[in-house]
Amino acid sequence: MKLDAMGDLHRSHTCGELRKGDVGKPVVLMGWVHRRRNLGGLLFIDLRDRYGLTQIVFRPDADPADFERGSHLGAEYVVAVTGEVVERPDGTTNPELPTGEIEVHVSDLRVLNASLTPPFVLEEPIKASDELRLEYRYLDLRRPHMQRLIEARHTAAAATRSYLNGVGFLEIETPMLAKKTPEGARDFIVPSRVHPGKVYALPQSPQLYKQILMVSGCDRYYQIARCLRDEDLRADRQPEHTQIDFEMSFVTEDDVFAVAEGLMAAIWSAVRGDEIETPFPRLTYREAMERYGSDKPDTRFGTELVDLTDLLGGTDFKVFRSVIDGGGAVKCLNAAGCSGWSRSEIDRKEELARKWGAKGLAWTKVEGGAFAGGVGKFFSDDERATVIERAAATDGDLLLFVAHDRKKANEILGKLRLVLRDELGLVQPGVFNFVWITEFPLFAWNEDTGSWEAEHHMFSMPRAEDLDLLESDPGEVLGRLYDLVANGLEIASGSIRIHRRDIQERVMAVVGMSREDAERRFGFLLKALDYGAPPHGGLAPGLDRIAMLLTDEDSIRDTIAFPKTYRGLSLMDGSPSEAEPEVLKELGIELVGPRDDEGQG
Ligand code: AMO
Ligand code: AMP
Repeated sequence: MKLDAMGDLHRSHTCGELRKGDVGKPVVLMGWVHRRRNLGGLLFIDLRDRYGLTQIVFRPDADPADFERGSHLGAEYVVAVTGEVVERPDGTTNPELPTGEIEVHVSDLRVLNASLTPPFVLEEPIKASDELRLEYRYLDLRRPHMQRLIEARHTAAAATRSYLNGVGFLEIETPMLAKKTPEGARDFIVPSRVHPGKVYALPQSPQLYKQILMVSGCDRYYQIARCLRDEDLRADRQPEHTQIDFEMSFVTEDDVFAVAEGLMAAIWSAVRGDEIETPFPRLTYREAMERYGSDKPDTRFGTELVDLTDLLGGTDFKVFRSVIDGGGAVKCLNAAGCSGWSRSEIDRKEELARKWGAKGLAWTKVEGGAFAGGVGKFFSDDERATVIERAAATDGDLLLFVAHDRKKANEILGKLRLVLRDELGLVQPGVFNFVWITEFPLFAWNEDTGSWEAEHHMFSMPRAEDLDLLESDPGEVLGRLYDLVANGLEIASGSIRIHRRDIQERVMAVVGMSREDAERRFGFLLKALDYGAPPHGGLAPGLDRIAMLLTDEDSIRDTIAFPKTYRGLSLMDGSPSEAEPEVLKELGIELVGPRDDEGQG
């Protein structure tokens, strides 16, 4: 088809704009051919742009030549139409479409560009494979659903800037070519051409720079920061992600939480028009593990873990008693209303529990105020009454028990709790429950390396009352570190930082870092701490995960314009790709090629 120039034609309206009040107006619309229908001698085109769809009508009597060209327009052709807004005849209005009461009768058609037949239909819901969508991301992004996601993310970012600017934060950029920053993942490395043999690391987060900005007296810093981590990917993880990174001087947890709560309220209000309740409740890590079996509990529903360890020390059920004698715990979950489950349904849950490391999954049903079936017969009247009370159980409930060491028992029932959530439909869509998790242990023991590791990163301040335990009992030291969790998803993480060299060096020693090592890797931070570092703390909400929550998506992938696959590939541009030998030579590096174990895709 012959193509036309746009010339001096000006778009007068978008494809989502025209209403009944515009009837009679001359208009110029530009957009993509979404759909074409030939009906009873009339030609209909749905013209699409970011703002919506407008129905365009070609009548053979108006301009036979345009009618002829119109009937050859393919999907995704780019056109400009000049015409008049007309009210749709009775019975042909479309209440689903904001522009559904009008149509535009064409007086002139210009075909601005053609399109090959798209490899998939731009429909909702999309049926094309993820791979095809990612390869032709520009086509996928034209879909109204994807446009809404991009817009929502933009609105969240704009609300973030507006809110933080309003409470005195300065937006400051920090380097992308940086010294290695420790967030626990692998670094992406950039070899220096000017300094052969030396490398920059891409930042896993701006952590050290934002702390140094506090030493610099900036007081309140933020940045919508790209963070790069070479780690194994999942539905809520990408190799590049974005944090709303902020840091504040002379603060305690309360100050950081208040800013974060105001920020979340501003974002939710801007994107969803929802008012969220602040302040958010707080749970210590220990409480979260005991009550929900998770450090990112979904608090939209109850079904909390019930501790029976103190009650069942003398139980007749040998399995429970021996676990308790061995220092373990017996915990229980009330599957409310599930006494009708068949044995095979219960067995399937037991299989799951075993897969997660349980030795079994004991059960009993509550019927007529008594226990029926399973391990029910082992409980004395007193024990039964207390279990029923603690689990708030009533007739028709099914009780599930795990006996194990405390940590594992909590984790197993915590996972089972989420299975019950999904199978029993325990949460309503559109509900958001935020909760702060505080007082995480500062260190975790790594079985493989036989050493202590920082639970989060090693710049978090130990609780003052635990400082004395740093060398004697690191496992007992709780940190002033916190996560913000929403609907069972960790959406932010932060801490009050160490602002004194002596404490920082002691923490580095616990994780087995020698003085020389510390000096070599973090000397610049330690040096800065020597020059009057103020007490400070901060937080980093993950923008991708927040956007996913805001838009009810299951994966962060679609909240990112150009995401990577689970194997870190960009299917649209084909990165990572081979480097030219000259480039490598200039950088003084040699690639050894793919490993034997490396698959495709
Ligand atoms: P952390 O590593 O916990 O903390 O990251 C903060 C938040 O960023 C999000 N996030 C991610 N989102 C998508 N893909 C990823 N790979 C990914 N990794 C993290 C999560 C997480 O809660 N410097 C510290 C923050 C601080 O202490 O202030 C940091 O980076 O929502
Ligand atoms: P048994 O006496 O070994 O046949 O086990 C009786 C019930 O107790 C079965 O339902 C097992 O799944 C369950 N069970 C066994 N070990 C445990 C455990 N450690 N925690 C919870 N239930 C268990």
